[in-house]
Amino acid sequence: MRRIGVLTSGGDAPGMNAAIRAVVRKGLYHGYEVLGIRRGFAGLIEGDIEPFSLGSVADVIQTGGTVLLTARSEEFLASEGRAQAFATIQRSGIESLVVVGGDGSFRGALTFHKETGLPVACIPATIDNDIPGTDYAIGFDTAVNNVVDAINKIRDTATSHERTFVVEVMGGNSGFIALTAGLAGGAESILIPEFPFDLEAVCRRLLRGVRRGKLHSIIIVAEGAGSAAEVAREIKSRTGFDTKITILGHIQRGGKPTAFDRVMASVMGARAVELFMNGERCAAISVAEGVLGHQDLAAVLASRKKIDVELYRLAEVLAI
Ligand code: F6P
Repeated sequence: MRRIGVLTSGGDAPGMNAAIRAVVRKGLYHGYEVLGIRRGFAGLIEGDIEPFSLGSVADVIQTGGTVLLTARSEEFLASEGRAQAFATIQRSGIESLVVVGGDGSFRGALTFHKETGLPVACIPATIDNDIPGTDYAIGFDTAVNNVVDAINKIRDTATSHERTFVVEVMGGNSGFIALTAGLAGGAESILIPEFPFDLEAVCRRLLRGVRRGKLHSIIIVAEGAGSAAEVAREIKSRTGFDTKITILGHIQRGGKPTAFDRVMASVMGARAVELFMNGERCAAISVAEGVLGHQDLAAVLASRKKIDVELYRLAEVLAI
């Protein structure tokens, strides 16, 4: 009986459970056995595995987090750890592995494939949406909506007190969450690591806004570009504005996945099984201009995802 293993790795992302559900049900539908590996590559090393049935993934499509748990495994970075993981693969009779995670998990999967020959299919799942080769990673839409919801709430109190708020969002070393949520939330300024910014210019923009009657200002800062505390301190000292900070942190990773994330996760999970059925051995699933596809995993990891400069410029224009 052909066996597929599935694991989630790295930071959890809303929609991971929908992806797991799709891998399990699509695999079982086509006559595979599907084994769930808990706690990412760490669980693979320890043999923390259980067979999944149709019922194992009942009532999970609407839940955040990952029923398989996740981890960042230092041991897997060492060849001894990967050798232990492969021993688990052989003992379990797993013939192919679906890895659901971010670019760090993709790198682990590629190294594992190169060393063992095990066929791997990687599903992009990180709220950062910074995985090269794909327009979209599962969890991003839900995280952006979490941030926009928070911005909407901050707007109420910022207006009432005529305050300036600096909101710090996640994203690792990328600004995709900050840019998308900042544009959707109508932020006055969006500070991201991809573009150098000048706080003097930010302050001039805030002062212009107040002069034309703005009752509040909201600045979004991506964690990779700096800290809300540092930006707020600079704004207050340069403008004298009553400036507050909100650090959204891990709230951005929680909550029920949006319909978009559930659908994206479902089609990507099913595609991972199809790729194995078609003999693919080292694939990164992707979406390009709305079309589901896959790329060679090594090629994907050799590239870098770029921020949308047009969107960045538009956000600046629309917030004048
Ligand atoms: O990669 C997803 C992410 O949420 C990043 O945006 C963030 O910097 C990081 O994970 C936080 O990692 P942890 O959950 O281990 O603190």
